[in-house]
Parts: sequence; structure tokens; C-alpha cells
Amino acid sequence: MSAPAVRTGVWFIGARGSVATTATAGCAALAAGLHPAAGMVTETAPFAGSGLPPVGSLVFGGHDTLDCPLPKRAEVLAAGGVLPHGLPSAVHSELAAADAEIRPGGPLSGDIRTDEELVTAFAADLTDFTRRNGLARTVVVNVASTEPAPDPGARRLPASSLYAAAALRAGCPYVNFTPSTGLRTPVLQAAVAASALPHAGRDGKTGQTLLRSVLAPMFVQRALPVRAWSGTNLLGGGDGASLADPAAAAAKNAGKERVLADTLGAAPEGEVHIDDVPALGDWKTAWDHIAFDGFLGARMVLQTTWQGCDSALAAPLVLDLARLLARAHEVGLTGPRPELGFYFKDPDGGPAALSAQYLALLSFAERLRGEK
Ligand SMILES: NC(=O)c1ccc[n+]([C@@H]2O[C@H](COP(=O)([O-])OP(=O)(O)OC[C@H]3O[C@@H](n4cnc5c(N)ncnc54)[C@H](O)[C@@H]3O)[C@@H](O)[C@H]2O)c1
Repeated sequence: MSAPAVRTGVWFIGARGSVATTATAGCAALAAGLHPAAGMVTETAPFAGSGLPPVGSLVFGGHDTLDCPLPKRAEVLAAGGVLPHGLPSAVHSELAAADAEIRPGGPLSGDIRTDEELVTAFAADLTDFTRRNGLARTVVVNVASTEPAPDPGARRLPASSLYAAAALRAGCPYVNFTPSTGLRTPVLQAAVAASALPHAGRDGKTGQTLLRSVLAPMFVQRALPVRAWSGTNLLGGGDGASLADPAAAAAKNAGKERVLADTLGAAPEGEVHIDDVPALGDWKTAWDHIAFDGFLGARMVLQTTWQGCDSALAAPLVLDLARLLARAHEVGLTGPRPELGFYFKDPDGGPAALSAQYLALLSFAERLRGEK
């Protein structure tokens, strides 16, 4: 099969993490026809003809602060049941090629580089990747470990914002799939406006919050007052370990709770908890307990259990977002893209209910088809 003429770069911040490794291996598997594209919305009929870059035209690279080779990371994920058995060897050459395009991230411990020096180095890595591979464009996707919410008095930008600034400087569309700050800092607003680049965020909506954005409108539409909505998550893996830090978990939970406040009109009583259970690896269980009133105040409860493989939920969405933003850039769309709220817990505007977000996404697919 001859390689497509126009190729698009996908640059992962956190390129050796579970989500990035699953997306890189999964994209190679799809391009080779080894698996159907379950979970990839952009492979469904409404997106045919929208001009999205084909999965086989995506070229991967990224930054990470770890140096474990990508084929080895994929073997670990296969041993944990995240990737199908045999997939890492079937796509070994694609994983090795992506591994060769991963550059050291930062700031590393003891790093004496200033923010400006780090942004310059990251932007140079992006430009080099795009030029050397003859890519039409490169979309930067943040899938690095969740950072604690930044201290308002901090003098330094968080790493996620340094990478986001580098993306702007290198002229790359940007996706923030994590709850970390990224572009959402006043310090970068002038650069964001001047860049005229499309961007989308933040924090992928893959499991518990996805379910919440479907169920909350049901209570509103059926006029059933929600008295309390509580949730607990058990997960392991790198994400579980990062979220064991209460400050990082607070950043994550704010997004989960925001979906309810936006849909119900006010945040109901109840909290979300995240417990790190390393033995579960990438497999997550999320329970929700929803107390609501029925006719004449009859007290009722809905309980849900979500069991999913975190990276297998996230990876197809990450590929969707990279393709959508690449095409948005190609047709000259700029700024935040509220049409992509379907994918995020804390979107850049747009409706809060999943069904309305899906309709907005379909209109976006139409728009991408028509513009050039
Ligand atoms: N369903 C999901 O999996 C899901 C949903 C929404 C959001 N997310 C977010 O996606 C992110 C990735 O999740 P994961 O399970 O792949 O986590 P992971 O721990 O497996 O991977 C994170 C990677 O980021 C790297 N990293 C950390 N600091 C870095 C830095 N300064 N520069 C470059 N790389 C850095 C780590 O070395 C690691 O390889 C997390 O922030 C998570 O909250 C995941």
C-alpha cells in the first residue's frame, strides 16, 4: 500500500503514558486493518467526506520525562489486558518509529532552564519533527500526568502551559485532554489570540462523566429534582498514582462536578472520590449514587456501576480530536472550538448535555466538509 501523500503529525505530551501508547499502537492496528475502529466517532458515516486526515497518514512523536521504550510500554499494556495479546509485536515497527520521535520533556528534577528556555526547546522539537517528516501540520495533544491545580501566586508556569506555549510558537493546533492548565492561564491569552490556531480542551470525558452528561439531562427533562449525586472511582495505573495526590484529584473532580452544575443548574449535594488501587492497573470502576425526588416527594435512588479500561476509552477520542483539529486548521478555523465539547468534561463553551454536544459535533463535521 503506498503511503498517503499528505501526512499529519500527532505530538503527544506524555508520549510514553498509557493513553498515548494505546493511541499510537491502536492507530497502527487500525491502519493495518487488524481491528475495527470501535469508539472512534470520526470513523462513523457522518464524518465521511469531512476531509479528516486518514488514520494511516498520522505520524507520531512527543515529549516525555520517562525513557521506557514505547514497544516495552505496549508489552506492559498487553500484559494488563489493555492492548490485545500479540498487538505490540504486530505493530512493533510503528511503535519503534514513534519511539524514535520522542524527545525529553521537562522540567526534569534539578532542571535549571527558565520557562522561556523550556518553551524554546519544546517549540524547536515540534518544528524539527514537522519539517524532518515533511508533515502538513502537527497537532499537539496533552496526555501527560495530571498536574495539581496551580498556586495563584506561583512565579513559574506549570509544565502543561509551557508545552501549550510551545505549540502556539511552533504554529501547532493544541488539544488538552487532561485537567491541567494548558492554555487556560491569563499569561497565555495574548499569545492564544495572536496565534490564530484552533484549540480544544479540557479533560477527556470518557467514563463516569460521560454517563453523568447523559443522565443529568434525563432528570431535568423529566422534572425529577436531584437531591444528591455522589461518586467513587477506583483505579490504578499511572493516572491512579498521579490522582492519589489530593491536589491533582481536586483538579480532576472539579470537571466531574462541573458537568452536573451546568446541567442541573446548581451543584447537587455529594462529592466525587478517587481511590488509587494499583492492583487494578488501567481498569477503572466508578460508582454513582443519585438520590432524587419523585411525584409527591417519593424518595428514589438510581445507582450505576461503570467498569472500563481507561486507556481504551481515551485513545479513540484522542485520535478523533487530532484528526478534527488537523482538518479545522487546514480549513482556517481558529480559536477555541466549542463544537468539540462532546469530548470534554470542561469544554470551551457550548451545551452541557451529551445529545446536544453530539449534534454540535455533527454540524462541525458538515462545516469541515464544506470549507476549504
Ligand atoms: N480515560 C482516560 O484514560 C482519561 C480520561 C480523561 C483524561 N485523562 C488524562 O490523560 C492523562 C494521561 O493518562 P494516562 O493514563 O496515560 O497516564 P500515565 O501516567 O500512564 O501517562 C502520563 C505520562 O505523562 C508523562 N509526563 C509526566 N510529566 C511530564 C512532563 N512534564 N512532560 C512530559 N511528559 C510528562 C509521564 O512520564 C507518563 O508517561 C492524565 O492526565 C489523565 O488524567 C485520561
